[in-house]
Amino acid sequence: MVLGQVGAQGMALVGCGSAVPAISVSNQQLSERVDTSDEWIVERTGIRRRHHGGTTSGLAIEAGLAALERAGRRPDEIDAVILATTTPDQIVPGTSAVVQDGMGVTGGAFDVNAACSGFVYALTVAHGLIAAGAAERLVVIGSETLSKITDFTERGVSILVGDGAGAVVVEATDGPGQLLSYRMGADGSLRHLLYCDHGGHLVMNGKEVFRKAVSVVVESSQGALADAGLTADNLDLVVPHQANLRIIGAACQRLGVPEEKAVITIDRYGNTSSASIPLALVDALESGRLQPGMHVLLTGFGGGMTWASAVLKWGG
Ligand code: UT7
Repeated sequence: MVLGQVGAQGMALVGCGSAVPAISVSNQQLSERVDTSDEWIVERTGIRRRHHGGTTSGLAIEAGLAALERAGRRPDEIDAVILATTTPDQIVPGTSAVVQDGMGVTGGAFDVNAACSGFVYALTVAHGLIAAGAAERLVVIGSETLSKITDFTERGVSILVGDGAGAVVVEATDGPGQLLSYRMGADGSLRHLLYCDHGGHLVMNGKEVFRKAVSVVVESSQGALADAGLTADNLDLVVPHQANLRIIGAACQRLGVPEEKAVITIDRYGNTSSASIPLALVDALESGRLQPGMHVLLTGFGGGMTWASAVLKWGG
């Protein structure tokens, strides 16, 4: 377990943006292709619709530019693009190179693959660069096109996945919007629970992932809260990875946080892997739920298995 506490140089989130493909697919539409139903999907997962289409780089560029605009920053002020994705456009180059070019960024670019935990992992990497004095301002993006690695003749995974991207601009500052703490971990002996071979489709043992997910989300969240000197009672908002509404409910209950404090977007977006946390963050901002001074928990888990939680104080 990697522990992170903000050191001498703080890092703040100063702008965020998101993007989803135009096509939205309903449960009803999916049930015309596989043996499932709207009732089953809503009851077992909380999903009603999801977006399909686009490219990982295209969605990332759109989200990244929206985040830059909200932050009031120019592309040439960015030291690097860090792209969390498990669905790169190509094996080589890293999709972040396409995003760097498309955004007009002149700094560096690299990909991070920690499956659905990727965005929080990427945030912690950003913090490391900033705390070390190696970077001043970065764009951190989670972008996925899971639909392109999904077998739509198989009902287990195909009902869950969605495509989209979310991005944040982070800066070296001790001002408002600080990342307070984070914890990340992995257990590679569980990699057989969720994988995709080259040229293949996603394969998942849903029940085992579900069981493990709740415990690692709770454990890493409690660790990050403790590192920030906070308890669950201090949390104003929880932005969880959107994999299953029942996982979010169970994790909130075990953490002792009312479920109403969790941001829910799974009904509209499905599971967008590393894009789900930044997409939910932007949703909370745009709906007016995310307010300056709030203590916010970001928490995710995914293939590997990996998990990561971060606590921040929103700056506005
Ligand atoms: O992003 C991180 C990675 N992914 C996750 O976090 C996913 C975690 N797991 C899950 O969300 C859930 O395990 C699923 C949603 C994938 C499955 O829900 P479940 O409650 O664990 O269902 P199950 O696999 O135990 O299946 C229950 C029943 C079975 O029928 P029988 O054997 O009881 O007759 C399945 O055959 O539901 C059936 N079933 C379906 N029925 C309609 C399974 N999938 C479907 C489906 N539509 N899509």
